[in-house]
Amino acid sequence: MIRDAARPLERFSFPDSDFALDVSQGLSNPHKALSPRFFYDSIGSALFEEITQLSEYYLTRVEGAILGAHAAEIAYDEPLGGMLVEFGSGSSRKTEILLDALPSLAAYVAVDVSESALYEARSRLASRYPSLDIRPIVADFSYPIDYPLDLAELHRIGFFPGSTIGNLTPHEAVRLLVVMRNSLARSGRLIIGVDLKKDPRRLLAAYNDAAGVTAAFNLNLLARINRELAGSFDLKAFRHHAIYNAHEGRIEMHIISLKDQSVTVLGQQIEFRAGERIHTENSYKYAVEQFQGLARSAGWIARRVWLDEDRLFSVHELISP
Ligand code: AVJ
Repeated sequence: MIRDAARPLERFSFPDSDFALDVSQGLSNPHKALSPRFFYDSIGSALFEEITQLSEYYLTRVEGAILGAHAAEIAYDEPLGGMLVEFGSGSSRKTEILLDALPSLAAYVAVDVSESALYEARSRLASRYPSLDIRPIVADFSYPIDYPLDLAELHRIGFFPGSTIGNLTPHEAVRLLVVMRNSLARSGRLIIGVDLKKDPRRLLAAYNDAAGVTAAFNLNLLARINRELAGSFDLKAFRHHAIYNAHEGRIEMHIISLKDQSVTVLGQQIEFRAGERIHTENSYKYAVEQFQGLARSAGWIARRVWLDEDRLFSVHELISP
């Protein structure tokens, strides 16, 4: 045996421990569930980008139009030399609407769990906004932000578009809004996009698109488990399912097992009955006053709100008291 102190150690590639834990726990429960935050590996992020271009998926397009129509009003109060802090920035496409309206901004802090999305966004924005200090942070936005020291004193405006808040239960949403109020403290202003309650047929079409991109996005969760956690899911033996739960006011996404089957994940065996579901996402929809109530419970003042003329989507401005 070699007993050389300098001999290199074995290297194991560790799976993302959060992901492994969530999957192992979520698939052991009688009601199987996985967290939607694991949708966004590089393949999932690319599929989500595709979703945002679908005709049925009105959210991104309509929110962009609302922001475009009101960017000057939003920018009006903003002091010179501040920073824009975006929670879950993804591709940072909508950010450009605000950046164009805020030419004297000093810095843009982009927080996202997807490293690949942050790299792409940074290179695109760097060539479009050469004098902007672009600072991507790989982090889960549900925790308080640890700002780079040189930015800590800058005036802050928060941006949380896309109705990402809809992934949380109303109770969790209030808690997140409290964390964000602290992360944005002192100047304290948040521009947040929230999908509105509407005819369920419109909602169902957005989450059951004809091209099957949402189905691929949902099933990528199983493919990701196969890739990263030594999973044995046969993707053809499962299907995408999206429903509107009117009682809870939310779209739910599930993955349904098409037969009795057993799957291994990290050496653990998991049994599925035919028709059994994995709950993968909630997407809550709020009336304007309902969301303003949540914001108030989190200590914000709901100052202004902008809607499109079909009342599909809302952009709220929240300020600190
Ligand atoms: C990014 C959470 C806002 O809920 O509409 C899109 C994610 N899921 N299609 C949403 C999603 C299925 C999206 N959010």
